[in-house]
Amino acid sequence: MSEVAENIEIKNFEIPKMGQARIEVSDKRMINCRADLNQLVPFKYPWAWDKFLAGCANHWMPHEISMAADIELWKRPDGLTEDERLIVERSLGFFSTADSLVANNIVLAIYRHITNPECRQYLLRQAFEESIHVLSYQHIIESLGMDEGHIFNMYREIPSVHAKAAYALPLTQTLSDPLFKTGTFQADQQLLKDLIAFYLIFEGIFFYVGFSQVLSLGRRNKMVGTSEQFQYILRDESMHVNFGVDVINQIKIENPHLWTPAFQEDIIEMILGGVELECAYARDTMPRGILGMNAEVFEDYVKFIANRRFLQIGLPEQFPKKANPFPWMSEMIDLKKEKNFFETRVTEYQVGGALSWDDE
Ligand SMILES: [Fe+2]
Ligand SMILES: [Fe+2]
Repeated sequence: MSEVAENIEIKNFEIPKMGQARIEVSDKRMINCRADLNQLVPFKYPWAWDKFLAGCANHWMPHEISMAADIELWKRPDGLTEDERLIVERSLGFFSTADSLVANNIVLAIYRHITNPECRQYLLRQAFEESIHVLSYQHIIESLGMDEGHIFNMYREIPSVHAKAAYALPLTQTLSDPLFKTGTFQADQQLLKDLIAFYLIFEGIFFYVGFSQVLSLGRRNKMVGTSEQFQYILRDESMHVNFGVDVINQIKIENPHLWTPAFQEDIIEMILGGVELECAYARDTMPRGILGMNAEVFEDYVKFIANRRFLQIGLPEQFPKKANPFPWMSEMIDLKKEKNFFETRVTEYQVGGALSWDDE
């Protein structure tokens, strides 16, 4: 392993020498930084700090949301159709595990290799938010009296749920290896790949079908508590994706040699693979049309989202340009009109009016 990589490890825990030269902004780097990582200021990436502050300002807790109407509806035999129940169960099955997976990727794989204190502040905040999301799913599952064994084992037992988890786990495994160090061309590309897989595909594509399905129930005044929990989670997730995009693009700026044509091809293939899995999930969870939606239209929607993900990291769109098939979802998920959508509830929890979303 290179000398650079050995230095990085030391800097995580370095004791500064008395009178040692101060850290300059120019010393700081997103990866492979040689400066002391325990000192926050001077900031190099104010956007990361701003996102950390925004995340703190948007703090919420699942128990603040009433689940009473959902419990009544869920327990009433004719409260929901079988198709609607399937959507709720699959969503909880996927997300309850997915958010643990994202949190573990941050804590065990990503954090050690992002060598910037303000970004680490955000990663710590994100890790906490993921734990809140897991709490939210568990709270819903418990409130509704669901079969916990059935829900939590979906990622072992339901192919479309398993496929999405299995897709991302190998990347976490590679980076969490104690022997893995950045500082080589190949290792740095591996880190970039993990970031793209988790921020753009896992959080940026895999969450969209499930979120949309549950939010659509809420729009029809069904499972309103669950839907509201998902709205709060979605707000956090939007910030996660935006942070990931910024980190990825910053690494590209600082390490342009990593962004080779072959690597770009590799990334495009990886994202296209993710799109396929999300389309398969849509088909599995919507065997029949429901709520004015069906799996085919949803596939268009996933491709519409994927096109945006490509553009966000400077890659060409891979699907023919289409209008967003679900304009109402655009209000909720694409976050163009997020203030309208959230103003009734979320502002109650706002600190300092921080609900000015970044445009994803
Ligand atoms: Fe989450
Ligand atoms: Fe997230």
